[in-house]
Amino acid sequence: MKSRERFLAACRGEEVDRPPVWLMRQAGRYLPEYRQLRERHSFWEMLRRPELAAEATLQPLRRFSLDAAIVFSDILILPAALGLKVEYGEGGPRLGPLVSRPEHLDGLRRVDPRRDLGFLAECLQRLAAELHPDTALIGFAGAPFTLAAYMVEEGPSRGLDGIVGMARREPALYHRLLEMVTEAVIEILRFQADCGADALQLFDTWAGGLQREEYQKLAAPWSARVVDGLRSLGIPLIIYLRESGRLLLDAASSGCGVLSVDDTITLAEARRALGPRPSLQGNLSPRVLRLPAEEIRRQVWSMIDQVGGRGLVVNLSRGLSPEIPPAGVAAMTKAVGDWNP
Ligand code: CP3
Repeated sequence: MKSRERFLAACRGEEVDRPPVWLMRQAGRYLPEYRQLRERHSFWEMLRRPELAAEATLQPLRRFSLDAAIVFSDILILPAALGLKVEYGEGGPRLGPLVSRPEHLDGLRRVDPRRDLGFLAECLQRLAAELHPDTALIGFAGAPFTLAAYMVEEGPSRGLDGIVGMARREPALYHRLLEMVTEAVIEILRFQADCGADALQLFDTWAGGLQREEYQKLAAPWSARVVDGLRSLGIPLIIYLRESGRLLLDAASSGCGVLSVDDTITLAEARRALGPRPSLQGNLSPRVLRLPAEEIRRQVWSMIDQVGGRGLVVNLSRGLSPEIPPAGVAAMTKAVGDWNP
């Protein structure tokens, strides 16, 4: 099977010769060639220059046997397109002006991807020309709750008190903000599919910090609305949450075709709880990639064996961080390639 066919079949729960593999944050600072690019260009410049973003996307594919590429971009290009100022500094991203009053929403723009995101279109078109038909191309966006959390309180750095407090004290404002963001997320994902993305991943990273009832009320309905809005595209939609073990059934109820799980649950437990659908993506801890190659292989094989290799996209429990050795990534992707049913 060719990589793209294998990846799409696994997302749909169809038979495959072996599970496909790609890694969240597979482009980035753990690669010396990425760090070299970053010496000459700021992150923001790399995002907005299609030839640089395409180069960063392709770097990991030259080193490792990966079945899919994820476009080099960031979830925060969407708040930027809505009109917020976004800066990437030492302590993580900073956004402003933060949303705390209804007037702030009046100041936001409607996102027109053709006008605001031409750089992303050009990057995806270049990548599709380079990768298709053999390798899959994944587009992505932040999920509405996670993006709203960034717009209200710069996300995780301040916890979730601000966004949860807004939902309780000013439900109308919360609703209007989430409605705006959700519409923009649907637009930006549809746009990426039009530009050649084969599948779309929704990152609801910070929703994992909610209690179950909060998740059901404040985050899940908006993700479900995105899934509904994109169903007619007929391409796989992947949802990722951190701390997904606790929120597994609620996250799956969004109707996504693939649920990306972290290591708060085993694949066997997730499969048992969910039944045969959706497909699962995950869930090796990046920490394992620091171990010797034989141990990585043992853990990768044992993980795949838990679900028998069907309906599985091999990935990590969270994104690769800068200190992970590339040799560990090589060992992981090789182990997936060597797996036999
Ligand atoms: O996966 C990939 O290789 C594709 C690119 C990608 C980036 N960000 C590039 C990036 C993807 C899919 C993202 C998603 C993203 N961005 C998420 C959700 C995924 C997750 O990790 O939970 C979030 C929360 C963000 C917001 C964001 N962008 C943060 C918090 C940071 C700073 C922390 C960090 O990792 O540096 C970024 C910057 C960022 N986004 C970098 C990269 C490669 C590092 C920038 C640099 O080169 O300095």
